[in-house]
Amino acid sequence: MMALLEVTNISHTFGGLQALADFNVTLNDGDLVGLIGPNGAGKTTVFNLISGVYRPDQGRIVFAGQDITLWPSYRRMAAGMSRTFQNIRLFKDMSVLDNVRLGAFAHYTYSFWQIVGRTASFHLQERRLTQEALAMLARFGLAGSAQAPARNLSYGEQRRLEIARALISRPKLLLLDEPAAGMNQAETLELVALLRDLHREFALTIMLIEHHMGVVLDLCQRVQVLDFGSTIFAGNPQEAQQHPQVLEAYLGKEENGEHGHAIAEP
Ligand SMILES: Nc1ncnc2c1ncn2[C@@H]1O[C@H](COP(=O)(O)OP(=O)(O)OP(=O)(O)O)[C@@H](O)[C@H]1O
Ligand SMILES: [Mg+2]
Repeated sequence: MMALLEVTNISHTFGGLQALADFNVTLNDGDLVGLIGPNGAGKTTVFNLISGVYRPDQGRIVFAGQDITLWPSYRRMAAGMSRTFQNIRLFKDMSVLDNVRLGAFAHYTYSFWQIVGRTASFHLQERRLTQEALAMLARFGLAGSAQAPARNLSYGEQRRLEIARALISRPKLLLLDEPAAGMNQAETLELVALLRDLHREFALTIMLIEHHMGVVLDLCQRVQVLDFGSTIFAGNPQEAQQHPQVLEAYLGKEENGEHGHAIAEP
């Protein structure tokens, strides 16, 4: 079977800093894989390289059989990739509904003349998109807030809205950067259940960066652990928790007084 995503030996430096070195990952259809590691390990950099925010200094990224290493972000989205951001990126003054509708731009293609002429097919696409966005909001328990500005939502709701927006383009691959960050325990448990359902319903392949080990253990079939830009473990999430190098990576960060995230955290 052809892999959905094949990342081979990608590296990235910022100035003199090697943020990521020789990173490899293969995702098959339906995989749900965790990417973990202490602060600054290079996790978000991996997502930025896969989604086309940055170009790798070296290496290759193949998605759905095409070499996308040099493609711009929008082209990757149109090919079936979608992501959320560690720092929530919503249009806070726009309505919740419009935030979701905007996520569909990779999916719905209006030509210039359709928009200017407001043709029948433009109106039909508009109506269909609004219906789909409302259905998506309902799925995320946000339908009641559809007309409210996004800034009125609680933090946990804003995180859910970001995922709803990422899904409206019907991606094959979903990259989630700390979806449970800032959520309380109850919200986190709800999110885990929701992600499990969405993964099945939408036939998604998911790569998930997450500091809550409970989320990773509950959801992920495999996990990859980064430390200082290098992969120090790849395999079973339960085994990762016991692995000496992984424990040391997290412990080292705590001894240095950084706000490391304990691997055994519930
Ligand atoms: N735009 C940038 N310019 C310079 N350095 C950067 C930039 N983005 C990230 N870095 C550095 O690259 C390294 C990896 O950062 P990255 O954001 O990928 O880590 P992370 O694993 O996502 O960390 P966190 O858990 O804190 O989100 C860090 O040392 C970071 O300071
Ligand atoms: Mg990060």
